[in-house]
Amino acid sequence: MTPDIKPLVAGNWKMNGQREQLDQLALIARGASNPISEKVDIVVCPPTTLLYVATTFSEDTPLGVGAQDCHAQAGGAHTGDISAEMIKDCMAQYCIVGHSERRTDHGESDSDVYQKTLACWRAGLTAIICIGETEAEYDAGQAEAVLARQLQHSIPDGANERNTIIAYEPVWAIGTGKTPSPEDVGNIHQFLRDAVVERFQGPGERMRILYGGSVKPANAAEMMKVSNVDGALVGGASLKADDFLAICAVYSGM
Ligand code: PGA
Repeated sequence: MTPDIKPLVAGNWKMNGQREQLDQLALIARGASNPISEKVDIVVCPPTTLLYVATTFSEDTPLGVGAQDCHAQAGGAHTGDISAEMIKDCMAQYCIVGHSERRTDHGESDSDVYQKTLACWRAGLTAIICIGETEAEYDAGQAEAVLARQLQHSIPDGANERNTIIAYEPVWAIGTGKTPSPEDVGNIHQFLRDAVVERFQGPGERMRILYGGSVKPANAAEMMKVSNVDGALVGGASLKADDFLAICAVYSGM
């Protein structure tokens, strides 16, 4: 963790969850209530079909709600897409952009992510910008070079601790049960911190840098202790309220 930064734990439900999954959302909203919310910000990013109803569930609770992607344009002839303005209109506060599954499945480039981040800011959403190296890049010792490039080209000027959260997600750790060692995570997060401080100065010091990739209740504590790990982006383990809240509890230090 970083002193003076309130951690944030975000659940990315991906393409999972129909209406019955709202039972878990209700449990998370209840569990996210005080006093834990004083120590950690908690966010769930359900599929778009559940977005609006999720925000009605979380109304009057500290639970934040986010989308998983947005289009760069505010509106127009883009069948099947949703704009950041539509997400905001659903009363959500966050939007994930540049997740590796979007980069892989939909060929999204850093410049697409850059435009989507601008769209989030335009609509008043906080962008959770995902970056991460593949296994081949990791094995070749290229992780830092890849991350530096993604940071530089995915994040527009003007990023600050309110409009931007960075999520470091090694692609090879997503959904695999494999995680980098806490030492590796610490080195990468220090590298990312140095890069955002160099580029954004004070706001870079205060920006949250999350770790994501196979975060579970069993490994959350060791990641939480790593300096410059300011929270977690959680996929599979966010679908069960008990598991997700256990991870949130670790980050709350309670
Ligand atoms: P995982 O996914 O926790 O299931 O590995 C993380 C993510 O893709 O955000």
